[in-house]
Amino acid sequence: MPDIHNQSGLNDRPVDLVIFGGTGDLAMRMLFPSLYFLEYDGHLPDSLRIIAAARKDMTRDEFLGILDKRLQGVVGAGYLCENIKTHLYDRLSYQPLDVESGTGFESLAKKLRHKDLCDMVAYCSTAPRLYGQICELLEIYGLTGDTCRIVLEKPIGHDLQSCKDVNDAVGAVFDEQRIYRIDHYLGKETVQNLMALRFANSLFEPLWDANGIEQVQITVSETIGVEDRWDYYNDYGALKDMVQNHIMQLLCLVAMEPPTSMDADAVRDEKLKVLRALRPIPLSELAQKTVAGQYTAGTVAGKDVPGYLDEGKKPSNTETFVALRAEIDNWRWAGVPFYLRTGKRLPYRHSQIFIQFKGVPHSIFPDESNLSLEPNKLVIHLQPEENIKLLMMNKVPGLGRDATTLQEVSLDLSISPEARSRRRPIAYERLLLDILADRSTLFVRRDETEAAWQWIDNIANGWSALGMKPSPYVAGTWSPPASVELTERYGHDWHD
Ligand code: BG6
Repeated sequence: MPDIHNQSGLNDRPVDLVIFGGTGDLAMRMLFPSLYFLEYDGHLPDSLRIIAAARKDMTRDEFLGILDKRLQGVVGAGYLCENIKTHLYDRLSYQPLDVESGTGFESLAKKLRHKDLCDMVAYCSTAPRLYGQICELLEIYGLTGDTCRIVLEKPIGHDLQSCKDVNDAVGAVFDEQRIYRIDHYLGKETVQNLMALRFANSLFEPLWDANGIEQVQITVSETIGVEDRWDYYNDYGALKDMVQNHIMQLLCLVAMEPPTSMDADAVRDEKLKVLRALRPIPLSELAQKTVAGQYTAGTVAGKDVPGYLDEGKKPSNTETFVALRAEIDNWRWAGVPFYLRTGKRLPYRHSQIFIQFKGVPHSIFPDESNLSLEPNKLVIHLQPEENIKLLMMNKVPGLGRDATTLQEVSLDLSISPEARSRRRPIAYERLLLDILADRSTLFVRRDETEAAWQWIDNIANGWSALGMKPSPYVAGTWSPPASVELTERYGHDWHD
């Protein structure tokens, strides 16, 4: 039986959590299942109340009926417990409201506990174009004081200017320290472990620069297509949907200087410096340093799948795959390539950060041994497995007569087998807990989102100026051949 006592260490102030878009896909697939698991593990304080707000006019019971069905589908049967659901549902109410007309906000305000007694968190799980309007309405109904905070899902805009517009609209009502911009990759266990690996060990730091590191690769490959989000995705593409946020955040964690503490601004200041040091890719180098692809019909995991254009039923030059060579202009990283790659309908799902160290400066081994002499590598797998491996050279045991035979062995730096057998939390669980506790280290600051857009806009605008179109790749294959050429051109290979 799960322990339902509060083990979270949250501060004592009660919270009213309002989820705008409370019947939407993200809420049903991620937010409520995460809240369920937090309840299951005893992390939610008794005083937390949750209000799902959405357009549909229905009763609380009707809402709970919908939620119940969805939880059954998302939470594994082994974890579904009637008493846990009861605890969660006891906290829940439903508020019909329409953000465009403002109806329902008055009743919402009446449902909330008084500011003197309770904090309010407004979680915007709606279309981003509604964020400004939600803020205005919250202000009208007095829901924006020091005891209120707001959570924004990505995407924040579709380019630098629209990002600034959203940030301005939200910033007109909430101070920056009360705005939580979500990048769910920062809630993933291994991503946080990367900070521990770098800053809780002294071993890597002396090698963690252009003298010690040959190249870095960040890959997020997915087998899924664009599902039922074709219209949204078609306006964004892989560059804006994945690189601008998740992949650039991973890049920051790999490349940033050690922050002075885990304090939110200490960490975010260092990430920002990395984003600002990214060298804009000039128009003349775009064709060598970037690759865009779009999947055509093919087979993924033994299943025939349609092409991107067949799914949308209209012409499109949106990329579903992108690979880039990025460079960071600072003392630590000058000259080290950061290869970034992500795509949909690739052969298998895996996300990893691959760091290749420089080879030994001189080999003392005979020629035959040198054939197998490999530089050291650190491979951080984010998903589906979560593990960290250090690849090192070792002698093959035994009495070889002529030469020392070398082999690459893998040192497993992963979490203990005991921890591995535990349930792997959804990234949103960590983030929701931090929001409730008012801890913002794992959230993205305004200047970070804008610096990331600035670098991305330069690429997107360059592609348009040159009329570059994505090259087709068959679903279930590793992207267009140009992606292989991108690394080979600089003497490197993708690590798959
Ligand atoms: C989302 C993107 O932010 O991240 C999706 O909009 C993508 O297109 C998803 O599929 C990937 O997240 P994860 O956690 O499954 O790697």
